[in-house]
Amino acid sequence: MRQKIVAGNWKMNNDKDETKQLIKEIKKSIKKLSLKSTRVIVAPTFVNLALAVKRAEDTKIEVVAQNMHHAKNGAYTGEISADMLKSIGIKTVILGHSERRSYFGETDAILVEKVNAVLENNLETIFCFGELLEDRKSENHFNVVESQLKNGLFHLESTAWKSIVLAYEPVWAIGTGETASPEQAQEMHAFIRGIIKNKYGKEIADTVSILYGGSVKPSNAEEIFSKPDVDGGLIGGAALNAEDFTAIIKAI
Ligand code: G3P
Repeated sequence: MRQKIVAGNWKMNNDKDETKQLIKEIKKSIKKLSLKSTRVIVAPTFVNLALAVKRAEDTKIEVVAQNMHHAKNGAYTGEISADMLKSIGIKTVILGHSERRSYFGETDAILVEKVNAVLENNLETIFCFGELLEDRKSENHFNVVESQLKNGLFHLESTAWKSIVLAYEPVWAIGTGETASPEQAQEMHAFIRGIIKNKYGKEIADTVSILYGGSVKPSNAEEIFSKPDVDGGLIGGAALNAEDFTAIIKAI
């Protein structure tokens, strides 16, 4: 049985008070839900992480980081290390988000270093990847996704995959309202699971959670999550509203 996950990537949103308020509202609204084994995750910005961890204590809400530097420490102005995240109780880090890849030049090689640093620190990663609109229009999207997956993760030993969650996020669907259809999501998730099976075998392929991200809303979540190879979602805009985020959690 694969782990179901609904994760809210807050990106660069919410100051201290807004972070407190949103966590308070999510905490209240999910209290009534029978989450079973579904993981509910929020990813505030670095400056509010420690506060969020504190506010989420004794709740079913997990607080994760949106990024991390691979170095242990040193002259990396503005960066955050694994030790710093662990020191405030963070156990999971989102890596490879398309905004990190496109705005901040995070290459496959940089992401390999980050993934290795996450694993060396006994952390878990939610590893993001996905094609651009031009890749899909040129029907090159499967090659692009396979390349990102292989270049970022396929150096890993089988044992490492217990600490990997995948998030397929077609870039053309992020923040655009242009959600991938449930069929498109299922097709790509099944493809991803297939290439993992070819490399690592059926057990790992059948166990790894693959989340879909890209304009997931209360109106489309249920149909997307109903697909056999979709194990949840990585939510952006809708995660900033407790009611919408809860509605998406209910849909899983
Ligand atoms: O990481 C999740 C994010 O990229 C999706 O954003 O606003 O399309 O749900 P959004």
